Amino acid sequence: MSEPAIFKAKALIAKAQHIVVLTGAGVSAESGIKTFRAAEGLWEEHSIEDVATPQGFRNDPQLVWRFYNERRRAADIATPNPGHIALARLESLRLLRQKIKSSSAPFMILTQNIDGLHQQAGSQNVLELHGSIWLVRCTGCESLRDDYPIQLPVPPRCDECGSLLRPHVVWFGEALEEAVLAQAEKATRGADLFLVIGTSAVVQPAASYPFMAARRKIPVIEINLEKTPVSEIATLTLLGKSGDILPKLL
Ligand code: OAD
Ligand code: ZN
Repeated sequence: MSEPAIFKAKALIAKAQHIVVLTGAGVSAESGIKTFRAAEGLWEEHSIEDVATPQGFRNDPQLVWRFYNERRRAADIATPNPGHIALARLESLRLLRQKIKSSSAPFMILTQNIDGLHQQAGSQNVLELHGSIWLVRCTGCESLRDDYPIQLPVPPRCDECGSLLRPHVVWFGEALEEAVLAQAEKATRGADLFLVIGTSAVVQPAASYPFMAARRKIPVIEINLEKTPVSEIATLTLLGKSGDILPKLL
């Protein structure tokens, strides 16, 4: 990654009024959380079908909960890395700078990650496209809670109605919440700069947002270890670790 590219990215950021950032597993990699695609269909020794689909949960809720208890443990011991911290800092600088009230926020993160590390780093305007590992939903009464112990009994049951509880995350074959979709699209339409960081950009609808921005002739800056489908439309692709590159953009 060349210095002129960093310089160009900084200039685009300085000019923008409404920055939207799409993040993926790569942003949390330097915090010790494993990415998906690297494992070639296996996720911590389990097939995705077994642990991250509605059918998998119906077949074996115990296995799925043991798996998510382990994900909760890993996310609990992880801490934000310099990439998360730089994004939080960028947002706070933007909030200070914002002079005029506007309908779209000066800075928003759309994350595919469920680990909560952006919020832990201090980011305020974060939309969790794929849910959160810290939220637990009842399959009966739909109640949503974030106050369960990190390790839940396997399988956990709802205090209110006794039904099985599930992680409030989007599994393969499930749709994103309508309200979440609407917010993500609105933010993308309001953006004048779009950043795509640490995502293989193959899972829909998240992967479509940078393309929506590019169609509107909005500059797109990508940060990734390697090229992705987004590189084709990106104004700039900065190759390297997000934890190295993001602090340089401040
Ligand atoms: P992936 O595992 O598909 O992609 C991670 C991306 O991060 C790859 O493009 C890597 O090159 C890049 N990467 C790895 N380490 C990096 C680093 N230190 N700095 C910058 N980039 C790095 O993860 P996602 O794109 O997030 O969905 O996957 C999207 C969705 O697919 C996930 O949210 C999940 C999964 O199935 C659901 O569970 C619904
Ligand atoms: Zn219930």
